[in-house]
Amino acid sequence: MNQQSVIDAAVGHIQDVLKGDSSGHDWWHIYRVWRMAVRLGEGEKADLFVVQLAALLHDIADWKFHDGDLTAGPRAARLWLESQSVDAATIDHVCGIIGQLSYKGAGVATDMPTLEGRVVQDADRLDAIGAIGIARAFAYGGHDGRMLYNPDDPPEMHASAQAYRNSRGATINHFHEKLLLLKDRMQTATGRELAAQRHEYMEGYLAEFHAEWEGMR
Ligand code: ADP
Ligand code: NI
Repeated sequence: MNQQSVIDAAVGHIQDVLKGDSSGHDWWHIYRVWRMAVRLGEGEKADLFVVQLAALLHDIADWKFHDGDLTAGPRAARLWLESQSVDAATIDHVCGIIGQLSYKGAGVATDMPTLEGRVVQDADRLDAIGAIGIARAFAYGGHDGRMLYNPDDPPEMHASAQAYRNSRGATINHFHEKLLLLKDRMQTATGRELAAQRHEYMEGYLAEFHAEWEGMR
């Protein structure tokens, strides 16, 4: 097994799987997470083969679109990795990361046991905040039929993955329920630094949004 040819094959496979997605999990989301994961992984001296495979395959089958089934992603990734004759330890590591990656509500811990997992989780979370994060949030909200903002419907701090998944709140709520909380959950040095900048950008955006909402600007 040649590592570079497995990475190349993973790129081709995931482009194929995510073709036509408009829910915020298109190939270019994967591309950005992959690039960022390599950057963070180099800084942390992580195993870049594991980092790249987990980044490339992390949204192969999202639990939000599989009835909350958290095992759909790791199962799909395992099947594909086995078809590439990747060694068992790497498959276990990559699938472990994919199974634990996603955000599941303000009150739900999503600790990552390995350095490679922390790198990929930070990279994925960085793509949910800042200018791109704002764009993705409204794109997802539109895809899901959510309102932009509803002042009568305050944000909730979800205590379980189930409550988070079932919420029907407006997209502005999502900033308070997830996006603004990510800065303090970053686990790599560079991730923390970049998240702080992106966080500040979102706060400026929200201040402008609310000022315009009230006709102040
Ligand atoms: P990830 O790629 O980190 O697993 P998700 O699958 O949770 O991210 O979500 C994909 C994108 O859609 C992210 O940018 C996320 O913030 C956004 N999103 C998820 N849930 C909502 C929501 N309820 N309202 C608006 N945006 C959302
Ligand atoms: Ni993702």
